[in-house]
Amino acid sequence: MKNINFNNTQSYKDLKNHFKKIKNVHLRDLFSSDINRFKKFSILFKNQILIDFSKNRINDNTLMYLLNLARETNVKSVIKEMFSGVKINQTEDRSVLHIALRNRSNMPIIVNNSNIMLEINAVLEKMKYFSNDVISGKWKGYTGKTISDIVNIGIGGSDLGPYMVTEALKAYKNHLNMHYVSNIDGTHISEVLKKIDPETTLFLIASKTFTTDETITNASSAKKWFLHYAKDVNTLDKHFFALSANVKNALNFGIHINNIFKFWDWVGGRFSLWSAAGLSIILSIGFNNFEKFLDGAHDMDNHFYDSDYDKNIPILLALISIWYANFFGSETEAILPYDQYMHRFSAYFQQSNMESNGKSINRNGEKISYHTGPIIWGEPGTNGQHAFYQLMHQGTKLIPCDFIAPVLSHNNLGNHHIKLISNFLAQTQALAFGKSKNEVLNELLLSSKDRASINKILPFYICEGNRPTNSILIRKINPYNLGALISLYEHKIFVQGYILNIYSFDQWGVEIGKKLSQNIFSHLNNNIPDKDYDSSTKGLIHFYKSFIT
Ligand code: F6P
Repeated sequence: MKNINFNNTQSYKDLKNHFKKIKNVHLRDLFSSDINRFKKFSILFKNQILIDFSKNRINDNTLMYLLNLARETNVKSVIKEMFSGVKINQTEDRSVLHIALRNRSNMPIIVNNSNIMLEINAVLEKMKYFSNDVISGKWKGYTGKTISDIVNIGIGGSDLGPYMVTEALKAYKNHLNMHYVSNIDGTHISEVLKKIDPETTLFLIASKTFTTDETITNASSAKKWFLHYAKDVNTLDKHFFALSANVKNALNFGIHINNIFKFWDWVGGRFSLWSAAGLSIILSIGFNNFEKFLDGAHDMDNHFYDSDYDKNIPILLALISIWYANFFGSETEAILPYDQYMHRFSAYFQQSNMESNGKSINRNGEKISYHTGPIIWGEPGTNGQHAFYQLMHQGTKLIPCDFIAPVLSHNNLGNHHIKLISNFLAQTQALAFGKSKNEVLNELLLSSKDRASINKILPFYICEGNRPTNSILIRKINPYNLGALISLYEHKIFVQGYILNIYSFDQWGVEIGKKLSQNIFSHLNNNIPDKDYDSSTKGLIHFYKSFIT
């Protein structure tokens, strides 16, 4: 892995010069001067997913310099390293092998002298039989009843991923009711416990480390609640399961060894939905669909590994993202799925991208002087249109957006879907091309307004446009395509982080808050005086205590 700061590369210098020439060029002109623009700047993946990046503020030269950057930093070599199990997560001394979890070719991948595909396949097999038993009704609860509800208890990657996928693939769902509990706020689990029956519910405790406070606290409350009804601790074996890399802690919690679905330290928490942490997905859509989900991701992995730089979708999208963050100074990126089932997609990639690339120290241990990971956010269309799109159209910030939509809906209701897609297309058009002064003027001249009122109102109606978007149209949101789409974004994040010379697979910044909250908890819980705190924290604690003591 090369550790060069990207602003020390020749390509960066070329891009810097090139930026001066292109920064004020309008997308209107880029389109009108090149009839082949869409053809040149779009890629079709397996005849299922169309990625149109033509509405970006790039031309042939921009792309050439960006691709030079990828070549100069040798992105291809680090892809090979990741896929072959080299420990590229150097701050944690780990391989990064979520791709192995969907390695449908079953080609051996060697970590610490052993082929990890053997263990992966064994856990997949175990999940297959277990999920079949639960879905078919063969698995019974402690009173002999069949299972109706699944509660996944986890947080971060152990919640966002499985929850996002289960929701996105709701059209493939069976009869089991799925629930996700993550927040340490007791309201979250209390509300779920109100809806379920201990006799017919399974609890999946999803935690790679099996130490995360939120998850262990929620799991302990679930266990207490369950035993209140079931009385006998032996009944736990029919209802409590661990999805974890920490077998010892799971056993100590009281999980039966057979009820532990294992994964490994080379699976990053935010990439764990492909592992046992995704058991709730399998229970929701069945193992066959889960296999298709893995197939889609694997095909995108192969595309990422094999495709040349200029045809490589994750590399291209990563480069475009770097272009906006580091040359146009964009601070955020919006992910806007025009599909209600995908309502957690942006939240999922918010963690994935921001936990991965929210770093300010480079791989040489030095402070970075350029922008690293963007702020990721978004809501499903068309809700966002009536919330924050105003700022995207006329605000002072440049927000690159990804618009994602299925061609075929799972719910063919009247003309809803055509209207949804029309909105998708109209928004990307409006953002790119806007409404010029002349267009506004011509429109207003047709109205009954006099010239003075027209002149007064004119500036407010103008939309400058030139706001960049990627459009991702997917034939249908099915397990295969969703798998491919998630893999695409994962690899985009990886390439971004690699080129920006940071370590994308650790998250040390999250630790500080965890440690401090443990200290505060023990002080509050034991009523220890808080003399060491700053005056703000003391004041807040004082207010808190005034109501509870
Ligand atoms: O937020 C920090 C983090 O470690 C994430 O990376 C991870 O997804 C989450 O906490 C949950 O961790 P675990 O699966 O170990 O409970």
